[in-house]
Amino acid sequence: MNEAFHDIAHMGHVELLTSEFDKSHWFFTDLLAFREVAWDGDSVYLRSWDDYERYTLKLVPSSKSGIGAVAIRTVSEEALNRRVAAIEASGRGVGWREGSHGIGKTYAFTDPDGHPMEIYYESEWHVPSEATRPALKNQADRFPGHGVNARRLDHVNFLGVDVEANGEFVNEVLGGRATEQIRLDNGRLAAQWFSFTNKSYDLVYSSDHTGTHGRLHHLAFAADTREDILKAADIFLENGIHIETGPHKHAIQQTFFLYVYEPGGNRIEFCNPGARLILAPDWKTIEWSEAERAKGQAWGLKTIESFHTHGTPPVD
Ligand SMILES: [Fe+2]
Repeated sequence: MNEAFHDIAHMGHVELLTSEFDKSHWFFTDLLAFREVAWDGDSVYLRSWDDYERYTLKLVPSSKSGIGAVAIRTVSEEALNRRVAAIEASGRGVGWREGSHGIGKTYAFTDPDGHPMEIYYESEWHVPSEATRPALKNQADRFPGHGVNARRLDHVNFLGVDVEANGEFVNEVLGGRATEQIRLDNGRLAAQWFSFTNKSYDLVYSSDHTGTHGRLHHLAFAADTREDILKAADIFLENGIHIETGPHKHAIQQTFFLYVYEPGGNRIEFCNPGARLILAPDWKTIEWSEAERAKGQAWGLKTIESFHTHGTPPVD
């Protein structure tokens, strides 16, 4: 097994850029039930209700929507130092910086596609206020009980010009395991799903057909049940949010999903990974062929064309 595997604990927090800040803020707080943590100038730190860390998402106003830094947490200080040494050896390191809102020293780097990323260990846990104290002490915050109640960040799906090069970096330098992938008839990888945990995926690369670096395909937040996703579709419909596709079930990873565009145009998924875990230490990457992918989803409608073309920032 790759000795780096298990140095990463999980995906931490993400920075999302939006050209429609006020409407995006409404989307995350009113519809997803995120709570405000703090403002930093014109940007706001938000948290999903069961995130044990202090924040989940930093929403940043920008002339173009897209993804900012994606941060991952290591299992220990030693693991952080091991991964930083590997990142520096790969030539992709940027340098140390101070984290914010409970996050300690953080090392910035980029993946081969140029997406800004960060890695850290120190993290202060969220302490609920009197108003958000949960009834049970084994959850981070009171259940919001409004909107779609997004529990936590589930995964990040980047677009990448060279899926294979990004995948090698995630595997060799960060220690991600490829649990599933799509290989085209020409031998090239069209997408690869990586896991740092026992979840079946945490970080995904899909081929960017526009040849543009550093774009986002989608961010996904976890729902408790499939019923929550059906209700989420009703809530998004009621509030004029563009539903791109779903609720359906993917063949790959078998995720029950709903994809919408938040008002800034960033694709957001609401997903239910269910009980599926990767327990095998010697898991063999499941490979799907071009013909298998062409069959579309497990059930539901065929994959919508925009799923293969839309990303943020948009390409002229
Ligand atoms: Fe996804």
